[in-house]
Amino acid sequence: MKALVLSGGTGTRLRPFSHSLAKQLIPVANKPVLFYGLEAIAATGVREVGVVVGERGEQIQRAVGDGAAFGLRVTYIPQDRPAGLAHCVLIAEDFLGDDDFIMYLGDNVFLSGIQELTDAYDAVRPDAMITVQKVADPAEYGVAVNDANGRVRRLVEKSRDSVSDLAVAGAYVFSPAVHRAVRAIPPSVRGELEITDALQWMVDRDLRVHSHRYDGYWKDTGKVADLLDCNRAVIGALEPCIAGTVDRRSSVSGPVVVGKEAEVVGSSLIGPLIVGAGSTVRGSTVGPHTTIGTGCLVEDSTVADSVLLDGARLSGVGHLRHSLVGRDAWLTSEPGAHRLVVGDDSRVVIGA
Ligand code: TTP
Repeated sequence: MKALVLSGGTGTRLRPFSHSLAKQLIPVANKPVLFYGLEAIAATGVREVGVVVGERGEQIQRAVGDGAAFGLRVTYIPQDRPAGLAHCVLIAEDFLGDDDFIMYLGDNVFLSGIQELTDAYDAVRPDAMITVQKVADPAEYGVAVNDANGRVRRLVEKSRDSVSDLAVAGAYVFSPAVHRAVRAIPPSVRGELEITDALQWMVDRDLRVHSHRYDGYWKDTGKVADLLDCNRAVIGALEPCIAGTVDRRSSVSGPVVVGKEAEVVGSSLIGPLIVGAGSTVRGSTVGPHTTIGTGCLVEDSTVADSVLLDGARLSGVGHLRHSLVGRDAWLTSEPGAHRLVVGDDSRVVIGA
């Protein structure tokens, strides 16, 4: 078995971050989202991985290299435009050959890994196996309609009709039968080759498409709120470790990680919380559910439920919540005024 990891795409919903950084490299608990997927694949024993990359391919290659750090052998497959998930399979045909393969969306996190999925595939040996999760808000997802044996009868894109509450998650296993499907389907109305259409094509020809139900924590981190939620879930299982310095005037409660050469002065740290290496926290209350990247400064501020990327600086910011602050971004305060320099496609909510 091989694996195909999709790390191209546009990342429209993660603008402005995706203007400068491949969205698969945005960190969750100070580790790029993509690394969770590569680790999950390595844990299944698969070694040969094709990584589909788009216009930010160089960043991905710099971060992942030849894959040896993950115990993988990585081949990069450039996609000239984000033409859809099924298009990724089409352009990877030479790499995939006649092997079964895992297809993994590079911005998805499955906290308990995907071994259960590959085991289920090996047990049933269908033509394709998708991962589904029961969700409370199925209208937000593509969903699968199954028969009693877990065989997929229909796939339905985001729809108000409550045909199923089983959302299709971003990990699949395909047999080589999928190659005929991706060659046969036409582009959708949005001009992409959709994996849903390829799967439906297989179902319609009586090929066996099964679903595997995943009950662990799964998140598609394609939107800011979901990225913050994922950060919250990952750091919920944090092993506390104070490598940097925390002065006597500071207090620490709950699981807290303070990275090397980080300095905490006169502050209150509330776990789960990560203060990245080389960061300074001074006169502030930070946490819970917060990750501060490396080389950040937080002074005279209050931050909770947030993620600060590397080099971000907060000074005198009264109360920051549910926020994602970009690399080297600065937030300061001025009495009685909001003075903002806001990048393209940013979203800012100012409290009263
Ligand atoms: P999506 O999140 O569905 O697509 P997107 O990256 O274009 O995001 P948005 O809708 O916000 O513009 O893609 C899922 C994963 O697949 C993600 O890691 C990007 C990757 N992908 C490709 O590699 N090639 C593609 O053509 C597409 C559409 C996605």
